[in-house]
Amino acid sequence: MNETWWKSAVVYQVYPRSFADSDGDGIGDLRGIIQHLDYLQELGVDVVWLSPIYASPHDDNGYDISDYRAIDPLFGTFDDFDELLAGLHSRGIKLVMDLVVNHTSDEHPWFVESASSLDNPKRDWYWWRKPRDGRQPGEHGAEPNNWGSAFSGPAWQLDPATGEYYLHLFSRKQPDLNWENPEVREAVYDMMNWWLDRGVDGFRMDVINFISKVVELPDGEVPPGRLYGDGYPFYAQGPRLHEFLQEMHERVFAGRSGDFLTVGEMPGVTIEEAQLFTDPARAEVDMVFQFEHVDLDHGPGGKWDDRPVSVLDLKRNLAKWQEGLARTGWNSLYWNNHDQPRVVSRFGDDRPEHRAASAKALGTVLHLMRGTPYVYQGEELGMANVPFESIDDFRDIETLNHYAEAVDIQGQDAAAVMAALRRTSRDNARTPMQWSAAPAAGFTTGTPWIEANPDYVLVNAEAEIHAPDSVFAHYRRLIDVRHRSEVVADGDFTLVLADHPQLFAYVRAHNGRRLLVLANLSGEPARYDASELAGWEDAALVLGNLDDSVDRGVSGSVEPWEALVFEQA
Ligand code: GLC
Repeated sequence: MNETWWKSAVVYQVYPRSFADSDGDGIGDLRGIIQHLDYLQELGVDVVWLSPIYASPHDDNGYDISDYRAIDPLFGTFDDFDELLAGLHSRGIKLVMDLVVNHTSDEHPWFVESASSLDNPKRDWYWWRKPRDGRQPGEHGAEPNNWGSAFSGPAWQLDPATGEYYLHLFSRKQPDLNWENPEVREAVYDMMNWWLDRGVDGFRMDVINFISKVVELPDGEVPPGRLYGDGYPFYAQGPRLHEFLQEMHERVFAGRSGDFLTVGEMPGVTIEEAQLFTDPARAEVDMVFQFEHVDLDHGPGGKWDDRPVSVLDLKRNLAKWQEGLARTGWNSLYWNNHDQPRVVSRFGDDRPEHRAASAKALGTVLHLMRGTPYVYQGEELGMANVPFESIDDFRDIETLNHYAEAVDIQGQDAAAVMAALRRTSRDNARTPMQWSAAPAAGFTTGTPWIEANPDYVLVNAEAEIHAPDSVFAHYRRLIDVRHRSEVVADGDFTLVLADHPQLFAYVRAHNGRRLLVLANLSGEPARYDASELAGWEDAALVLGNLDDSVDRGVSGSVEPWEALVFEQA
């Protein structure tokens, strides 16, 4: 087994609902993915991470699972799944499944049983608590603590039948599993083994840093302007998290041979903690998704209170993680996923004159860092945020709940709330994959479950796949460079021109070979003092992102959104 095969691998995330619809019901499905396997192979990715396809009431688009061992009929059948897996494997692409085990759906039989009576054997599989301070169930303030849910409102839901509340860090249809109970852990490990036995190659672990909680579930501080307490200190990086992850590794992966990938989604994780989670000697997870760089634009009011981010802040943060995980551990590198607005609109410039160049520049700086890059569907086309016109255009539960709470309960200005949603809503990432200029972007022959971004007439795979100067072609080159270059896969990282306010520049070095990445992340020309890059005078340009990126050498100027990669002979 090659422990670190993923150092030279690139992962592609498929959000099945929005990728490709094969049967015209307006919702993407497994056969839709099967129809586009050659596209993934053409791009050159090594791994597909598939967002949840399990049976689900779809309160949170499948992140609320009612049967871990069933494919939702919306997406297809096990025959389709087996065909997809075989089709990927025959192209040398691995399949990583989404593992959502901080919570289940409230329609999962485990929860249905658990809720059925106070003394049901599965009662303790979830977090049930009596009303606080002897209050009556349902009385104002009777929730067992003051935590808010990530999707607005309290993190507790009353079950009138038993008069107790259950904890849900996300929607009320996503009750949290109680990992203190060893039967819960066994059931999860059993399910993971069942999928690995079917041939999958690993797991992306949804909010896995929330599975161990401080069992007293104490009240959290209420941040200014918020309605609820912040439970994060008590449910994230909880007291038994390392123990649970080590136990999971032992029970699921330790006895297997093969090249697997585990990546833990960990909102709020620090570098010091990430070093521990990803230290191979500790056998927990291969890598984590940290959130600092995608949280930089959060203001005091959180993600809906967004602020512009400077190039300085962005590169310093990314460089800090590069250095932090240089010796032990490993980074995952991402701009986008199904929870983030589109990077070209967020840190680039999605206006027609800059869209492609800024998408390529951002792709370049991300892919050539040390770590495993993740591409989210459509990112490789430079897909942009969506000009949503009204709240009725959105589908995401987090977005809709926030709007209702902010406007109806807190009385915030509806137009201002809408403007923030347009920039930050997760639905920016969830509109149909843009395959062609055909109606609904070629995603479906029916009515899509969410409208396509109207820019699909220009931004789409058909237009890009054979165009040598497209964002797609550039991503393909970046992936190819990672495959071929040991410097990219394994080199050291050093930030250069560290205080430059427009340029993100760094050097990668390995066994005497060196690569310089020099990118202007602004729409203005950038000048720099070439003497700061002494030693690079004779380097050759190996990659550029503009049609006319000619080898001017390390000349002291970089065009708007230009990204240059030099190699030292
Ligand atoms: C993760 C998922 C997100 C989901 C949440 C609850 O953050 O990425 O989409 O809503 O967990 O499962």
